[in-house]
Amino acid sequence: MQVLLQPETSPWERRVRMAGDKSLSHRALILGAMAEGESVLTGLSESRDVRTTLRCLRALGARVHREGPRWVVSGWGRLGRSEPAQVLDCGGSGTTLRLLAGVLAAGRGLSVLTGDSSLRRRPMARIVQPLSCMGARIWGRGEGSLAPLVFQEGRLQTLEWDLPVASAQVKSCLLLAGLQAGVPVALREPLPSRDHTERMLQALGVPLERTGLAVRLAGPACLPGFRFAVPGDPSSAAFLVAAAVMNPGARARVEGVLLNPGRLGFFELLRRMGGQVRWEVTHEESGEPVGWIEACGSELRAVDVAPEEVPAAVDELPLLAVVATRAQGQTRVQGAGELRHKECDRIHHLVLELRRMGASISEQAEGFEVEGPVRLSGGTVRCHGDHRLEMSLAVAALSAADPTRLLGAGFSDVSFPGFWDLLPGTR
Ligand code: S3P
Repeated sequence: MQVLLQPETSPWERRVRMAGDKSLSHRALILGAMAEGESVLTGLSESRDVRTTLRCLRALGARVHREGPRWVVSGWGRLGRSEPAQVLDCGGSGTTLRLLAGVLAAGRGLSVLTGDSSLRRRPMARIVQPLSCMGARIWGRGEGSLAPLVFQEGRLQTLEWDLPVASAQVKSCLLLAGLQAGVPVALREPLPSRDHTERMLQALGVPLERTGLAVRLAGPACLPGFRFAVPGDPSSAAFLVAAAVMNPGARARVEGVLLNPGRLGFFELLRRMGGQVRWEVTHEESGEPVGWIEACGSELRAVDVAPEEVPAAVDELPLLAVVATRAQGQTRVQGAGELRHKECDRIHHLVLELRRMGASISEQAEGFEVEGPVRLSGGTVRCHGDHRLEMSLAVAALSAADPTRLLGAGFSDVSFPGFWDLLPGTR
């Protein structure tokens, strides 16, 4: 699909309620599928990635149906999951594949996880190694480092593991394996990654302790059915907030959004850049803070992003590069090598495409540097099959001097259905 975007120069205002957070939606569905009895979920993300998780869970024996705005999940509970009758296709969703790997490592029969060509290039040794240490029997391409991954019934044991990279997907995979097998798991991360799995498990009464960078699942636990109203996705809100701070006279307010500190890194960085961005927690939902975010057009200055700040902003760093083109001075992002292992190599392709729009941006081994301010020129850019790159380039196009043609668009619904209706400007 091709999209032609016109710059937006007149003042605009948007007040919206974001659709459900993608990370929380994956987890709510998976925990609902593992639980004993019925769970009722509202506000679930209807993104392509979450629908992929739902399809896989059905193939594993969970019964899920929709009643208006509610999703009712009947978990397999004590009976355990089924042996899937077919290969489970995780599409482009790393969260689906890595979290389900934890579920498949224990339990019956043979199962196979695969995905599209981009997911089949992403690193899987980070889950295969610790799961194998637990006693899981797993085979994969590239000596177990790439999907498809094959799981054969096995008996899992206790795990103590230091994660070499901060990854919520890896951490959650291992916690789910421990939970499914009823064995203790003790993990330590190099830096804190998003902690949704831990919060949800604790809210469900699972014995799980957290001390600094360590998390310990104590052993067998029975998951009860639960109710969960999924808060809005801050990573989707980020596009609207970025568009607002970059454009004089623009205003945005997002209601009902998840305000977990591990997801607010981008908004904190915008504030450090002089962006007028505010947020407030209004209530909690199953251990997660929820509230509103407001932003308006601002004078921006460059920012230095240190490696320890990366995990809390990891999905928003391409968007930060776009904002940095409007900021005075040199913005530097370091320690973000993980961006090369997302839906595409997000460092390389971001730099390539923003340069085509006239940005002064250079590629570094583990990040990038942007010199600003620069008026982007518009032009023709490519999305490389990556939803976050596509939406970041669309935000860049709003403040460009000329129209921008996005080639290979059509991926925004991977995480953010409704993105194009929400974005100001004409196309
Ligand atoms: C996610 C964790 C992050 C993030 C991804 C979603 C999750 O990946 O980039 O979009 O839901 O656990 P890593 O955990 O690999 O950093």
